[in-house]
Amino acid sequence: MGRRGAAVGAVIVAAWLLAAAAQGSAADNVQAASLPVVAEADQQRGQGASGPTPPAPTLGWRQESVAPEPAPEPEPEPEPDVRPAVVDCAVLACVALTFDDGPAEYTGALLDVLAAKGVPATFFVLGIQVEQFPDIVIRMAAEGHAIGNHSWSHPRLTNLSPEQAGWQLDATNTVIAQLTGVTPTLVRPPYGTSNATVLAVIGDRGAVSVLWSVDTEDWRNRDVEVTTARALTDVEPGSIILMHDIRPTTVEAIGGIVDQLQAAGFTLVTVDALLGPVTPGGSYRHRP
Ligand code: NI
Repeated sequence: MGRRGAAVGAVIVAAWLLAAAAQGSAADNVQAASLPVVAEADQQRGQGASGPTPPAPTLGWRQESVAPEPAPEPEPEPEPDVRPAVVDCAVLACVALTFDDGPAEYTGALLDVLAAKGVPATFFVLGIQVEQFPDIVIRMAAEGHAIGNHSWSHPRLTNLSPEQAGWQLDATNTVIAQLTGVTPTLVRPPYGTSNATVLAVIGDRGAVSVLWSVDTEDWRNRDVEVTTARALTDVEPGSIILMHDIRPTTVEAIGGIVDQLQAAGFTLVTVDALLGPVTPGGSYRHRP
């Protein structure tokens, strides 16, 4: 190879190097262009609820980022369980306090009074209210109160088809059971209106209808004195007393009502305890 040959060889080598360099950078460009796509897909996966869990940070990182522990708060007093150990309403003069249409704004204050007095009650709750005050329902159950079904939205069940009435009960039972683990077997039909069809719907769910024998009309009078007087008038062993936990005057009256009933020798119990054995689909307004 002469000088000319060497020069041609150098040109060929230079051309090859240039080509290789060009190829390499083209490959880099392809990779670079694809990166954001991969990152985007990762982001989407990360945002999805069912996406894979990101790797846990190392222990060292965790320790550094954990805030110092706050001073321990004093343990809250456990809420008392208001259920008496043994109650035989065939022997004792039992009475059941019942509260309809909640849970609502004042129900917590009512539970405070009942807890202080150590007496149980029965709450006939509305499904729509349970959705708004779930913690109150959990508290009712934890403190030993009975929870009954007062329908989802307070319609007259007699105006509904059996399917619609059934839905009113089932939807309410479902939210109560989700919160308390217990499906109610006590139903108070709104306005106390029922008929054979409604009772059959209630009975199909293994439940009974619970009305009342003493009506305080607290929702109407909204007066502590009147509500108290009505609660104590005509009360007798086996009475079921109707009140509403949606009125502040009822909450104000309840302490005195409990005191006077107990002073008169009555034992306050839940409706289940008051009734004893019952027949599904039956309707009760008093201890049988
Ligand atoms: Ni009602």
